[in-house]
Amino acid sequence: MNILIKNIKELVQVEREARIKVSGHEMANLETIKDAYLLISDGIIVGFGKMEELQNTAKANEIVGFEVIDATGKMVFPSFCDSHTHLVYPASREIEYIDKIKGLSYEEIAKRGGGILNSAMKMQEISEDELVESALQRLNEIMKMGTGAVEIKSGYGLTTDSELKMLRVIKRLKSLSPLTIKATFLGAHAIPAQYKSDPTEYVDLIINEMIPQVASEDLADYIDVFCDRGFFTVDDTDRILNAGMKYGLRPKIHANELDYSGGVQVGVKYNALSVDHLEYTGDAEIQALLGSDTMPTILPGAAFFLNMVYAPARKMIDAGLPVAMASDFNPGSSPSGNMQLILSMASILYKLTPEEGINATTINTAYAMDLSEELGSICVGKKANVFITCPIPSYQFMPYYYGSNKVETVILNGEIQSLS
Ligand code: NIG
Ligand code: FE
Repeated sequence: MNILIKNIKELVQVEREARIKVSGHEMANLETIKDAYLLISDGIIVGFGKMEELQNTAKANEIVGFEVIDATGKMVFPSFCDSHTHLVYPASREIEYIDKIKGLSYEEIAKRGGGILNSAMKMQEISEDELVESALQRLNEIMKMGTGAVEIKSGYGLTTDSELKMLRVIKRLKSLSPLTIKATFLGAHAIPAQYKSDPTEYVDLIINEMIPQVASEDLADYIDVFCDRGFFTVDDTDRILNAGMKYGLRPKIHANELDYSGGVQVGVKYNALSVDHLEYTGDAEIQALLGSDTMPTILPGAAFFLNMVYAPARKMIDAGLPVAMASDFNPGSSPSGNMQLILSMASILYKLTPEEGINATTINTAYAMDLSEELGSICVGKKANVFITCPIPSYQFMPYYYGSNKVETVILNGEIQSLS
C-alpha cells in the first residue's frame, strides 16, 4: 500500500539522519515541519517535506497510485514505543488496589501472597488461547492510543511450564498483531512461596532449567530480573544475567524501585539495554550510567499508581543522560498502557518539556527495545508506524490535554488500521 498524507499541520519528530538515542540537553530539541507531507510505500517511510516542495511536478509524478489522506488541521507523530510492559496476564487485581487505598504498601501486599504471586497462581490455570485473546484486546487498546511497538515480559509464571506458556503466548502475539513486539523472560520477577526459605534454589531453577529451555525454543529477546529489596539480590541478579548472557540474552532490569538496590550498577556491568523504574537514583547510579550503553527508563504510571517518590528525571537529563519513559502496563502497579498519559506525566510529574517527553516516549524507548534503527522517529527508510491526531492547536497540546485520546488514525507497517 502507498500512502500520501498531505496538508499536515505539523509533522513531529522528523530526522534527516537516524540517531539511535537522544541524551542530555539534546532531549530538548525536537525537529518538526509545518505544512508538511509524508510519503509511505510498502510499509516504509519514503519521503517527507514541506507541501510547497511536493507541489513541484517531479514529486507529483512520483506519487501516482498513492492513497491520499488530507490531514488539514491535524498532526502526524511517530507511533509511541512502549519498552516495558507486562500486558500478558490472567486477571485484573482491583481488590489489591482497594487494600492499597486503605494504606497497605506494595511490599506488604506482596508479603501476604498478593501481588505478583496472586497473578502467578491464576496463571497456572489459564489456557494459552485465553491469554492470547485478552492480550490481543489490550494490544488493540494501546494501538488506538498511539503505541506502535511494545515489549512484553513473562514473569507471572514462576514455574518452568508457566513461564514457557507466557513466552509462547508472546510469540503468537508477534505474528497475530500489527504492533512490533519484543519478548523478555522475567522468571526472576518474584520468589514463589515454596522457595521463601531458600530463594537460591529458585535462582538455580531459573539458571539450570528455565533459561536453557527458553533459549532452546528461541522464546525471548531479552532477560529481566526484579533486583530490589525483598525480591532478588545483586548476587542473584549477577548469576542470572551471567547465565542469560551465555545464551545471548541481553538484560533489561527492574532496578531501584524500592531502594538503592545496586540494580543499576549490576545492569550496567552486564551491558543491559535498559534499567527500569529508578525511583532510587542518586549520584552513584548516575555516574554508573554515564558513558554506558544502558538506557535509564522511568515508569511514571507505576510511581503514580503506587504513590511513590518520583525518579529524578531532571537531574538525570541535566547530568547528560538519556531518559526513556514507558508504561509498565500490568495489573498490579500500572493498569494502563496509555502512552499519551505517560507523556503528560513526563511533564506534570517529572518536569520534562513536551520536546523532552516526546523524545523519551519515541526514540529513546525505541532504543530500549533495540529498535531505534527502524522505529521511533519520522525518518526515510524507517518503518511506517505513525499516527494522525485529531485537529489540535500545537504539539504541546498532546501532553497538556491529558486524559483523552487525541489519536484519530493509526498507520502501522504502512497499513491504515481499523480502530473498531
Ligand atoms: O514493574 N516491579 C515489579 N514488577 C511490576 C509489577 C508487577 C505486578 O505487581 O504485577 C512492575 O511494577
Ligand atoms: Fe515492570
